Parts: sequence; C-alpha cells; structure tokens
Amino acid sequence: MKSKENVCPICKGTGWVEVKRGVKKCSCQFKSISSSIYRRMNIPKRYQDKNFNNFIVNKKYKHHLIISRLKDYIILEEYKKGKGFFLVGKPGVGKTHLAVALLRELFLKKNIVGLFYDTRSLLFKLKASFEGSESSREILEEVVNTPVLVLDDLGSERLSDWARDILHYIIINRYNDLKPMIITSNIELKSKNEDELEDSLEERMGSAIASRLSEVCEILPVKGQDMRGSKLLELQESKGS
Ligand SMILES: Nc1ncnc2c1ncn2[C@@H]1O[C@H](COP(=O)(O)OP(=O)(O)OP(=O)(O)O)[C@@H](O)[C@H]1O
Ligand SMILES: [Mg+2]
Repeated sequence: MKSKENVCPICKGTGWVEVKRGVKKCSCQFKSISSSIYRRMNIPKRYQDKNFNNFIVNKKYKHHLIISRLKDYIILEEYKKGKGFFLVGKPGVGKTHLAVALLRELFLKKNIVGLFYDTRSLLFKLKASFEGSESSREILEEVVNTPVLVLDDLGSERLSDWARDILHYIIINRYNDLKPMIITSNIELKSKNEDELEDSLEERMGSAIASRLSEVCEILPVKGQDMRGSKLLELQESKGS
C-alpha cells in the first residue's frame, strides 16, 4: 500500500485530473529531479542525465533483457525484500549508467531517495574525516541506513584492512536490515574456478561478504563495447543537446 505522504495531493494518486473536456495527466506524472535531490542522492554531474531511455540497446548483448529486469524490479518492489543487483562487466559498458538510471527511476516512480557512492571516494571521504569523529560516523550511518545504496566500482583495488572493515560494516549491516544494495564491479563476485586464485571479490573481500552479496544481489553481467569516446554516443549526445 502507498504511504499517505507518497500520494500526490492533486490527483490523489490516480495520475489524472479533471479538466473542462475530460481528464488530463496530472503534473506529478511529469516529475523531474531537482538539483537538490541529485545532491542528496550524491549522483555525479556526468551521470545526472543518464536514464533507461538514453541507454543504447544492443540486442546482441541482451541489453533489452537487463533493462526490463531492472524495470520489473521497481514494479515488483523487490527492493522491499532487501534484494539488489551486482552489475559486472568490463570498463565503459554502461554499468554506472544503469545503476544511476535505476536510482532515478526509483525516485520518479516510488519517491525513494537513494544514495550513490563511488566506493573508493566513500572510503577516502571516511578516512579524510577524522576516524571515529562525529562527521565520519554521520556519513557511515547515512550509507548504512539509506533506502537504496549504489556502491559503484566495488573491488577496483586491493583493500587495506581498514577499508575491508568499513565495507564489511556497511554490507553486513545492510544485509541484516534487508536494505538493498546495487553494486557495480569489474570483477566477478566469486571465482568461477575454485582451484585457481582468480581475481574475484571473494578473494579480495573474503567469503563472508561474497556469500551474503550473492544471496541478496542478482548478478547481471553487462556486456558490450567500451562506449567511452564512441561515435554512437557522440551522435546520441548531439541529438539530445
Ligand atoms: N549502451 C549505452 N548506451 C548509452 N550510453 C552508454 C552505454 N554504455 C555506456 N554508455 C555511456 O558510456 C559512458 C561510460 O559508461 P559507464 O560509466 O556506465 O561504464 P561502466 O561500465 O560503469 O565503466 P567502468 O567499469 O569503467 O566504471 C557513460 O557516459 C555512459 O552513459
Ligand atoms: Mg562505472
């Protein structure tokens, strides 16, 4: 059931308002995101215009299936059960684009104000604010408690014990509280070959984390070409501007 504060006071949640000659779509159906909401969600400027509509779908890479899965996740409100995604793939294939598009859509469709963090920047910010200080605790609590957390580029580097502990704290608390995590990464969650010490999140962060993430995050491999600097993207951007 929708909570009262989520219901538009103009159309009472129907999406339509009466006009002289019938009905028209309510203004809430054309909701956009203000700069203050982007700030609250911590979405970087480069990604603020990224959405499902401007993601160029290549059927060869099954992009259409990824997008419909992400849309279904919102429609079915799976985030309420603490479910999320682990978007994995090579650089430039659109993982961050898709994670931001999901955050946007959650706000537009469900009024959920989530939080985006590039993992390395989050660790840096926590380290820079004096360890154990009020401000570092505030950042940490916000990350643990936000309704939907995007951890971008997890596992991009070998972690110090301190960084591992912090990430453990965040992930385990969110897992225990059924709070969803949307994770993007260049490396697999678990090694495919148990005998080989292949680079994986399991190897970098330990099996306790990998096991929990594999339970609550559906793995979505994102394939495609590196779109950074691609002509196709330039063409799309010039059309949009
Ligand atoms: N299929 C696509 N359609 C439209 N734009 C795309 C697509 N794939 C990537 N892009 C664009 O290419 C750029 C790089 O994509 P993005 O940052 O999402 O890649 P990534 O997979 O997160 O890479 P990395 O692993 O290096 O972080 C962004 O501007 C993004 O919007
Ligand atoms: Mg990325």
